[in-house]
Amino acid sequence: MLGAVKVVLSPRGAQRVLARHPWIWHSDVRALPDRPGIYPVFGPRGLLGWGMTNPRSRIQVRVFHFGPADDPLAALWANLDRALAFRAAAYRGEPEGGFRLVHAEGDLLPGLVVDSYARHLVVQAHAAAWEPLLSELTLRLESALEPAGLLARHDAPLREREGLERYVRTLAGKIPDALEVLEGEVRYRIDLKAGQKTGAFLDQRDNRLRLEAYLEGRGYAKALDVFAYQGLFALHMARHVVEVEAVDSSAAALEAARENASLNGLGNLRFTEANAFDLLRARERAGERYDVVVLDPPAFAAKKADLERALAAYKEINLRALKLLRPGGLLVSASCSHHVNEADFYAMLAAAAADAHRVVRVREQRGQGWDHPVLLTVPETRYLKLALMEVLE
Ligand SMILES: C[S@@+](CC[C@H](N)C(=O)[O-])C[C@H]1O[C@@H](n2cnc3c(N)ncnc32)[C@H](O)[C@@H]1O
Repeated sequence: MLGAVKVVLSPRGAQRVLARHPWIWHSDVRALPDRPGIYPVFGPRGLLGWGMTNPRSRIQVRVFHFGPADDPLAALWANLDRALAFRAAAYRGEPEGGFRLVHAEGDLLPGLVVDSYARHLVVQAHAAAWEPLLSELTLRLESALEPAGLLARHDAPLREREGLERYVRTLAGKIPDALEVLEGEVRYRIDLKAGQKTGAFLDQRDNRLRLEAYLEGRGYAKALDVFAYQGLFALHMARHVVEVEAVDSSAAALEAARENASLNGLGNLRFTEANAFDLLRARERAGERYDVVVLDPPAFAAKKADLERALAAYKEINLRALKLLRPGGLLVSASCSHHVNEADFYAMLAAAAADAHRVVRVREQRGQGWDHPVLLTVPETRYLKLALMEVLE
């Protein structure tokens, strides 16, 4: 293995690449260069493509180009150009908005995320082969997008497993301590250097806007946003529902949500720090009723082995929420765990409705926003499921 200058895969690994899946685990790697980098990937019958490698990583090879390439780096940068071109209209058209510009494997850019918040870019490069390319990446992003600033959010624990240093560093321009972003008519403040993910959950942006459009003119009285983080679903709801309560277990997240409410001049929100499981049970016991409940929990299944326990947890919160809803009310329920597929998700919702003895009509089956693209041959890229449901009786 030592001194290899190319990757050699097992027949099974080669089959996976031929079927256009970019990830290869240790068990399907026959030879691998001992330093992370960009290398040609071979199967038993010859060259399959080019990939980023890391012998320390669980996923040792991540293919970014299928087939031969005279200049593999040019092929990588072409993937970046294609990702930026896909979002160019939104980036130019909504200068105060928040978008994902690069969605890792969904854009054939392994482990690379670039989000834009009011033209301030946040980069996360979670594959070791990006390290020597970071200054060129910065230059390319600057010249294509002319951002106000560019921040590396390289503080995720995941980087340690890749053998990478953890840091947060401004790579270009200026990154303010707090930044305001516009989502439809809702304004929110984020801390790019310390917030969850790159600052906000941009994958739910389209769903939040859709829910707001759905609530307009319905005259609902009471809504509950469970797992609210900085309150974005709650803020969109508070523009059309009389009273909204945002629940999260993080006091810091709720403080941000409270600030966002005053930034929008909304006085009809309240904020509750609680464990969602306990709170839902307590509200049911107290006989509370709501017109809208949003459930946007963190990924309960971080790995495949967690699937059964995760499905039980998803069912528990959905069952409680369904019991809390008035006839005609709405349940908005999400799962961002890619180990829970769409069939599992809807089967879990059906089981919750059956146990709650409620008739529930699915109004919309949704997923992550358009700027988080899905590759058909990579099911892991289709991770967010969201159902907008109406309780008929
Ligand atoms: C996926 S994020 C929610 C994103 C949010 N809905 C948005 O649109 O920005 C999940 C949130 O759940 C919170 N959380 C995790 N476990 C919790 C629990 N047991 N009870 C309440 N909140 C929890 C986290 O603090 C985090 O803010």
